[in-house]
Amino acid sequence: MAKVIEMNHPLIQHKVTILRDKNTGTKEFREVATEIATLMAYEVTRDFPLEEVEIETPICKTKSKVIAGKKVGIVPILRAGLGMVDGFMNLIPSAKIGHVGLYRDPETLQPVEYYCKMPTDVEQREIIVVDPMLATGGSAIAAIQFIKDRGAKQIKFACLISCPEGIKALQEAHPDVDIYVAVIDEKLNDHAYIIPGLGDAGDRLFGTK
Ligand code: PRP
Ligand code: URA
Repeated sequence: MAKVIEMNHPLIQHKVTILRDKNTGTKEFREVATEIATLMAYEVTRDFPLEEVEIETPICKTKSKVIAGKKVGIVPILRAGLGMVDGFMNLIPSAKIGHVGLYRDPETLQPVEYYCKMPTDVEQREIIVVDPMLATGGSAIAAIQFIKDRGAKQIKFACLISCPEGIKALQEAHPDVDIYVAVIDEKLNDHAYIIPGLGDAGDRLFGTK
């Protein structure tokens, strides 16, 4: 079963409170979402393997550690996932970026992929799927399936806010995908919004309604 890693760092908790506040405007929302994503990238990369290399300091030769050739792909779920990309790129600047976009068919309610472009060597990369909200889990479950269909084998999922319903659904659908979440909220409401949540992440990031 997939692990769920909830961030308990005070800086992350503090910044999530800023995102929740309805008086936080678009500019600050974007900046703070990026800051949280940067802090989360630190946790998401905690298990990256290291190898020793020989280097020379100004004083002497020594062996020191570097990340062992890990290839990373960051994949935002469009569109709100875009708000977490810069934060991850701050710490993993050599990562390649894929994109996956989907909408729910109003009649069948099934997720329909409208865009999916992965790095060419997706099967060799550790893929970090990002989306601020994991609510019912429908979007993340479908997006991860589309990414797996393109050949990805190692996937992690990172979000800012989730709830027990979304986490359970994602764990059941993709037991191989660990979930990194800044805060797990109480529940979903009747409109599938997270309570207390932060509202519609895409609208708050992009200033739409
Ligand atoms: C939001 C959010 C997730 C999805 C979560 O996107 O960014 O992708 O809802 O809900 P779920 O877990 O119930 O699927 P939305 O569908 O509003 O699209 P947007 O990013 O284009 O605004
Ligand atoms: N999507 C959002 O943007 N917010 C929620 O609370 C649920 C789904």
